[in-house]
Amino acid sequence: MAPATADILAKAAHGLASDLLTNTLLTARCPVVFAPAMHTEMWEHPATQANVATLRARGAIVIEPAVGRLTGADSGKGRLPDPAAIFEVCRNVLKGATPDLAGRRVVVSAGGTREAIDPVRFIGNRSSGMQGYALARVAAARGASVTLVAANVSLPDPAGVDVVRVESALQLRETVLAAALDADVVVMAAAVADFRPVAASRTKIKKTGDEPEAIHLTKNPDILAELGERRRAGVKSPAVIAGFAAETDDVLANGQAKMARKGCDLLVVNQVGENLAFGTPDNAATVLVAEGEPVEIPRGPKDDLAGVVWDLIAARLV
Ligand code: CTP
Repeated sequence: MAPATADILAKAAHGLASDLLTNTLLTARCPVVFAPAMHTEMWEHPATQANVATLRARGAIVIEPAVGRLTGADSGKGRLPDPAAIFEVCRNVLKGATPDLAGRRVVVSAGGTREAIDPVRFIGNRSSGMQGYALARVAAARGASVTLVAANVSLPDPAGVDVVRVESALQLRETVLAAALDADVVVMAAAVADFRPVAASRTKIKKTGDEPEAIHLTKNPDILAELGERRRAGVKSPAVIAGFAAETDDVLANGQAKMARKGCDLLVVNQVGENLAFGTPDNAATVLVAEGEPVEIPRGPKDDLAGVVWDLIAARLV
């Protein structure tokens, strides 16, 4: 249903059948996708949010509205999602993706952090964000309400996903930990810098003399490990915490040690190196599962890998 107004969401949530449209909706046995469009204030109103939550809990797919110019002079969240985005969600639904994540809140981090050296330079990494975006896209198509925390990714926003942009590891940590408080699942697909310069220079560092100045580094917090620690300490936490591991050698042994160290439920271990994984549309991985056998995912599109990861996560949510 596009556009789905605040009025139609309210009627659908309460099962009203006062006209042909709502009659049709009440008799529908097929998956139902709503593409909302309304003013920001209406979208954010607790009544609308409660109606959206009701519809999602029942298995309907409510796409997150886009952010942009609205019908008046105002702009903000509430714009009808791009037709291509609506089409993508519908196509995924028709492809047989069951809405098994409907009513679930998931947080996915993607991309690579940048740690500022000075206003123009940073320490970064080669992560393109493609795998994280695939995870977010597939989760949304399976009905989840998705927050995608994107670190320096230059890909279009996936349909129906709430995208929060961050730059550094510290910003990523703050955003992920806050979103994790009411999430069912967190998947840390972002490549987080292990170290950052102790202090970023406020001005551009000049080359004085012949010798370069040393850059002193300090350790960044390990966000994935922290999520696990918080859960063990009894903080309100996601039921499933998943991580990624990029390894160049001894993939399985390193992965297993990392999983034990970080205390997560699932670890997707990628072999990285020249022409492997970074910036390519394909990926292969071994998924390590707490109290279970490792699952091999053969090389294929990143969306397919995302599908298997969500299958494994969904199995742990029931
Ligand atoms: N990760 C994190 N915070 C960090 C570093 C990594 O949350 N400061 C997360 C990543 O998002 C990923 C997982 O931990 O899900 C593993 O990342 P990886 O870079 O493979 O592991 P490291 O902890 O950096 O270990 P090492 O450098 O020894 O391989």
